[in-house]
Amino acid sequence: MRAGILGVGHYLPEQIMTNHQFEEKLETSNDWIIARTGIRERRIASSDMDTSDLAANASLEALEQAGITAKDIDLILVATGTADYEGFPSVACLVQDKIKARHIPALDLSAACAGFIYAMVVAKQFIETGTYKNVLVIGAEKVSKKLDWTDRNTAILFGDGAGAVVMGPVSEDKGILSFDLGSDGSGAEQLYIRDHLKMNGREVYKFAVRQMPKSIQHVAEKAGLNLDEVDLFIPHQANSRIIEEAANKLGVTKEKFSITLDRYANTCAATIPLSIKEELRSGRLKSGDMVIMVGFGAGLTWGSIALVWGK
Ligand code: COA
Repeated sequence: MRAGILGVGHYLPEQIMTNHQFEEKLETSNDWIIARTGIRERRIASSDMDTSDLAANASLEALEQAGITAKDIDLILVATGTADYEGFPSVACLVQDKIKARHIPALDLSAACAGFIYAMVVAKQFIETGTYKNVLVIGAEKVSKKLDWTDRNTAILFGDGAGAVVMGPVSEDKGILSFDLGSDGSGAEQLYIRDHLKMNGREVYKFAVRQMPKSIQHVAEKAGLNLDEVDLFIPHQANSRIIEEAANKLGVTKEKFSITLDRYANTCAATIPLSIKEELRSGRLKSGDMVIMVGFGAGLTWGSIALVWGK
């Protein structure tokens, strides 16, 4: 039995914050931000919405797209680094209540911007062993509440949002072919949240450019794939220059990489499911397509999945 994606949902806060809005407060410019990161604007959640609200909204759309109800879900996994409560309870428990799921297991998973990939791999194990049928996997972040708005090195880079997928059994010619996960905790201090998010941008940049292509190569090898057989790469997006350098290293045209960073910035664990949703809506992602998704982030962590899109 193969595990795959049965439905996809997303939620983006209405409020748009442009690069120009930083020019008033910080020593930066719209031109610098676009040239050095590729980001033009980001979404910021209102004060009455926390991560679980973004997550629940994305989940309801994913359920509808999968053609099931909350009562059909057997497990909820939320990848997040910006939970409503510090410590506990988990966002997943809040989502269980908000979407009116049964009293099923619900837990958060902490692997930063690789979190959505990690969560999908966890879901795959439960599905392929027949333990659970429908697993709700969510990447949701209200990063804005953890930003130091006086720090031009980090404040401009992030945004809020949520994406969700329903995973379940799919036909043998679809679904997840292989995965690659890894971590290196010696890099913990390069990117972390205590009260606020702190980052050593240059070191994280070097790590991303090194690790992203490696992970893509590993996952492709495990699936027995040549990179030219891949229709679409859905990467975590922190900086468009990271994607360009990774594409160059792999000898793949950058047009094959999904980009939503220009409008939503880095939404941490939500970036990959938000990009999946956009590619579906635009019609670029179709049943039978060969897809590689890749995430990297704090920990340091990384992860990739190769899958054939469709049920
Ligand atoms: N506006 C104007 N100047 C800025 C700036 C901003 N918003 N942010 C940083 N700078 C400055 C720096 O202070 C530095 O100035 P200095 O030379 O006087 O010290 C200068 O730009 C160049 O710094 P550098 O770090 O080399 O910039 P960069 O072009 O590499 O871009 C980042 C900085 C943060 C955009 C880039 O390092 C990056 O994207 N890092 C990885 C981020 C990431 O992947 N994060 C999340 C992983 S999940």
